[in-house]
Amino acid sequence: MQYPDYRPRRLRRSENLRRMIQETTLSPADFVYPVFLVAGTGVKKEISSMPGQYNLSVDMAVEMAEEAYGLGIPSVILFAIPEAKDSVGAQAWNDKGIVQQAIRAIKRKIPNMVVIADACFCEYTDHGHCGVLTKGVLDNDASLENLQRVALSYAKAGVDIVAPSGMLDGFVGATREGLDSEAYDQVGIMAYSAKYASAYYDSFRDAADCAPLSGDRRGYQMDPANGREALREVTLDIAEGADIVMVKPALAYLDIIHSIASEVDLPIAAYNVSGEYAMVKAAALNGWADYDRVMMENLLAMKRAGSDMMLTYHALDAAKLLGG
Ligand code: PBG
Ligand code: ZN
Repeated sequence: MQYPDYRPRRLRRSENLRRMIQETTLSPADFVYPVFLVAGTGVKKEISSMPGQYNLSVDMAVEMAEEAYGLGIPSVILFAIPEAKDSVGAQAWNDKGIVQQAIRAIKRKIPNMVVIADACFCEYTDHGHCGVLTKGVLDNDASLENLQRVALSYAKAGVDIVAPSGMLDGFVGATREGLDSEAYDQVGIMAYSAKYASAYYDSFRDAADCAPLSGDRRGYQMDPANGREALREVTLDIAEGADIVMVKPALAYLDIIHSIASEVDLPIAAYNVSGEYAMVKAAALNGWADYDRVMMENLLAMKRAGSDMMLTYHALDAAKLLGG
């Protein structure tokens, strides 16, 4: 029998040897926790398609943010269901809106926590599309003006990072220009650069009440069949002033994360979306999967593929396992 000179198993013999050669590690600092805000006080209502995740009033969201921060998670991203919707989504730039209130409340209670706010209109429009419609089609440039209003309103409330998510052409440049026009040059932009028209968002649409009433988002979100186009989107967003670029969803798009990581030098975020969370939860609740192990393997894969941070509903569970 001819033995090989190199035997990979030598370095897998013990826990400590395995630890020494581990290439990728997870830390609570890698996570951004998404929070779904609703009006009222004392509200903590479980989202049916996302067991373990909640619609929270501002006071309860502050408590949730404190818990996350206590576990070592540096950041939250905020979404909200407004009390009233209209055709343009004007509640999105109401200075007293739910997101704006939550930004103020979280920054007051936990000044060092990085508060990110999603900037889109689908939760705020009565038709559920990500901006203004003209003749039934998303009107790109009219929506950009409103996006600037949203970004400024978040900035006034004290947000650290604005995350435009509508996949409008020029949305990063418009956000940057809007922020800089009132000297908010220190407010960052996390761009939903490569956001695919995915079936993995359905649970989120329950959580944020933002499913389009008619049609779908394929006229603005990317075709899951396209890989090179993601790089084009990322390149545009960087040129327009993005500070962090995002790939979304994560698990079915690890190839996209990997190729972007090899091409660009900006921090990369992966959005481990609602449907990815729901699948793991559902399997675990049925006794078909080990929740902790599957969750950690998924998060590790996103990081190994090249993402620097993960927006994930698992953030608290994973941080607890990591001893945060
Ligand atoms: C809205 C938005 C969506 C998500 C984040 N922001 C849904 C969509 O585009 O329909 C999805 C997040 C998730 O599924 O966890 N622009
Ligand atoms: Zn949207």
